[in-house]
Amino acid sequence: MSLLKIGVIPGDGVGPEVTEVGLGILEKVAKRDGLVYELHPFDLGGERFLRTGEVLPQADQDRLRACDVILLGAVGHPGVPPGVLEKGILLKLRFDFHQYINLRPVRLFPGAPCPVTGKGPDDIDMVVVRENNEDLYVGAGGFTYKGTPEEVAIQTSINTRPGVERCIRYAFDAARGRAARGAFKGLSEADKAGGYTRQVTLVAKTNVLTFAHDLWMRAFNEVAADYPDVKPGYMHVDACCMRMVTNPEWFDVIVTTNMFGDIITDLGAVLQGGMGLAASGNLNPTKTAPSMFEPVHGSAPDIAGKGIANPLAAILSTAMMLDHVGATPSADRIRRAVARVLAAGAPKTPDLGGKASTVEVGNAVRDALD
Ligand code: NAI
Ligand code: MG
Repeated sequence: MSLLKIGVIPGDGVGPEVTEVGLGILEKVAKRDGLVYELHPFDLGGERFLRTGEVLPQADQDRLRACDVILLGAVGHPGVPPGVLEKGILLKLRFDFHQYINLRPVRLFPGAPCPVTGKGPDDIDMVVVRENNEDLYVGAGGFTYKGTPEEVAIQTSINTRPGVERCIRYAFDAARGRAARGAFKGLSEADKAGGYTRQVTLVAKTNVLTFAHDLWMRAFNEVAADYPDVKPGYMHVDACCMRMVTNPEWFDVIVTTNMFGDIITDLGAVLQGGMGLAASGNLNPTKTAPSMFEPVHGSAPDIAGKGIANPLAAILSTAMMLDHVGATPSADRIRRAVARVLAAGAPKTPDLGGKASTVEVGNAVRDALD
């Protein structure tokens, strides 16, 4: 494999703490598997903003673009007004680098705590494909009479046919990719006899958002026709929230809008053992610009600096980065090590009910690598 240029944005709060542990795992796996890479660190986030007033200077963005992939810890600083860093760094990179898929696996590892009684690792193994470049997140809108009693605020959801369709196609392709692991357990005998091996559920709100989600539904039905081996399904987002808790085994691949995907994946994170375990990738599948991998959690200011943040989400995000660059055996090696540590029941950080530090958990994962 050729030299991989990895841009690293440790960011704020627990971001640098968990990123460093993720990089330690990467180092060991890379040595073993002969992956060659170089790290390009970026000082971006709240501290930089407070020091210099800069959020994401063009020169930094140009250097990031020159990287193959990006690892991000988290941004968000108690001393910076909400939105400045999230919009100015995270959303800007997602949009400018055409990272139009936000891929968020929701998988319960044996040994990780699941808050739903009676549900276990066999029941919770889905992936959410969240549209990442459109919807309410594009910043289309404005105020009239701001600050007056008559104030009006408008925030527009943008849904383009090409943007929606490429996301839905990605979801169906992802379902096919999962077929390699066997057929989806939630399929009925009749489904299997009908030739289905996997399932994609569109999660939207077609009964209320009768323009935007009508477009989604039509695009979904048309794309589904190209995948006779994948069972198409539909669920309203509110029902989905209920079913993710009562019947998580009903889900294989979920495809959804930017806003709904943001919300249901926090629910998904809880199903898989909490924010400390949820990983994600902001993908530009065409590779015209770097993709960016990050834990779903934020900078967790309440525990920052204490050395107790769970590094597993960052470690699993590093594995997703390896998937993206075609180093899936290395990524699987990392996931197996995480699974071993969780199955052993210790060490665990406090969010999982243990007393271990970030570094101790990282060391355990490193030692568990095969
Ligand atoms: P958060 O995810 O930072 O924290 C929520 C809760 O989860 C806190 O109790 C925190 O202690 C816990 N938590 C998070 N990560 C953890 C970990 N690795 N190990 C153990 N516990 C963990 O979300 P919150 O508090 O809403 O936001 C804090 C800041 O982060 C805000 O500025 C927010 O805008 C930003 N943020 C940034 C994101 C990103 O960079 N992608 C995503 C979400 C929030
Ligand atoms: Mg979120």
